[in-house]
Amino acid sequence: MNQLILGDNLEILKSMESDSIDLIYLDPPFFSNRNYEVIWGDAGEIRSFQDRWSGGIDHYVAWLKDRVLEMHRLLKPTGSIFLHCDWHANAYIRVLILDKVFGGNNFRNEIIWKRADTVKGNFGQSRKAFDPNADTLFFYTKNGDYTFEELYKPYSDEYLGTFYKYVEPETGRRYRLISMIGPGGAAKGNPFYEVMGVSRHWRYSQAKMKVLMEKQMVVQTRKGAVPQRKQYLDEGKGVALQTIWDDVSSLSATSKECIGYPTQKPEALLERILLCASNEGDTVLDPFVGGGTTVAVADRLKRQWIGIDQSVQAIKVSEMRLQQQQSIFSLS
Ligand SMILES: C[S@@+](CC[C@H](N)C(=O)[O-])C[C@H]1O[C@@H](n2cnc3c(N)ncnc32)[C@H](O)[C@@H]1O
Repeated sequence: MNQLILGDNLEILKSMESDSIDLIYLDPPFFSNRNYEVIWGDAGEIRSFQDRWSGGIDHYVAWLKDRVLEMHRLLKPTGSIFLHCDWHANAYIRVLILDKVFGGNNFRNEIIWKRADTVKGNFGQSRKAFDPNADTLFFYTKNGDYTFEELYKPYSDEYLGTFYKYVEPETGRRYRLISMIGPGGAAKGNPFYEVMGVSRHWRYSQAKMKVLMEKQMVVQTRKGAVPQRKQYLDEGKGVALQTIWDDVSSLSATSKECIGYPTQKPEALLERILLCASNEGDTVLDPFVGGGTTVAVADRLKRQWIGIDQSVQAIKVSEMRLQQQQSIFSLS
């Protein structure tokens, strides 16, 4: 199944079987009106791809919509799509393409990926607007029943300092205190009794409260205060990921994984998408594969993959990247 295919993705997508793909990630030209160029190798060869649209935004939207329609056909009923774009066209893409093709009810998230901060000296000319430093990832699914694994990131030091500020002297375990008051009080059937001299409608039955007390899980911070229960840091999963992704660094020319492909995306970004929206053995498609980031990550995470690009260089670079990665794996 794993394949890198050279050609215009519209023709290739049309030739593929319906309901066969679990996850699509696409990072098409952003309607930036730029030429992306890179000087490649010792010979100083210039390679590039164009993001210029002489017919304006209508031309761009029609071009991309034709492709997204095919992608929708290819997805399995449980499949999903992540479309990567930025301020140049994100409003048009959401309203005129994704809502139309997938349906507004299948919109799941608009993720904001924060790219690197720009540090400026004092001598640059000042701008008259803020420097854009974010991309948009639209997450849509084909239907309401789809693969989604919740992901977590580690707690920040600030969060730990604010919430997990207690340490158990005997074990060194860090914990926070959480309320045991029953939400909704008597009306919701929460039992009323006394704990450490304080009577309330509690969340737990008297028997469960007894067990918690025996396990030293109930704490009263001072006489007369409402008792609370411990929640240990080592039992928490971390902070559930939300829609602002500011913890995935963009690539710099000196990054280890940088292969020099213009607009190459970081593997950590793709890893996150693949881990939350696909399982091992699933098939992942990237119809604008560029430098091969998606297929390299898919291969490493034991997904099947298909990458398409119309540029010979892109396909060659992706092939080389996969070969290098696979030989590193077979050595280790
Ligand atoms: C923004 S780059 C993708 C970068 C990639 N995500 C990475 O991490 O390296 C967009 C790619 O789309 C390719 N492309 C543009 N139009 C295409 C088309 N109609 N069919 C196939 N590939 C196309 C370009 O050659 C370019 O490699």
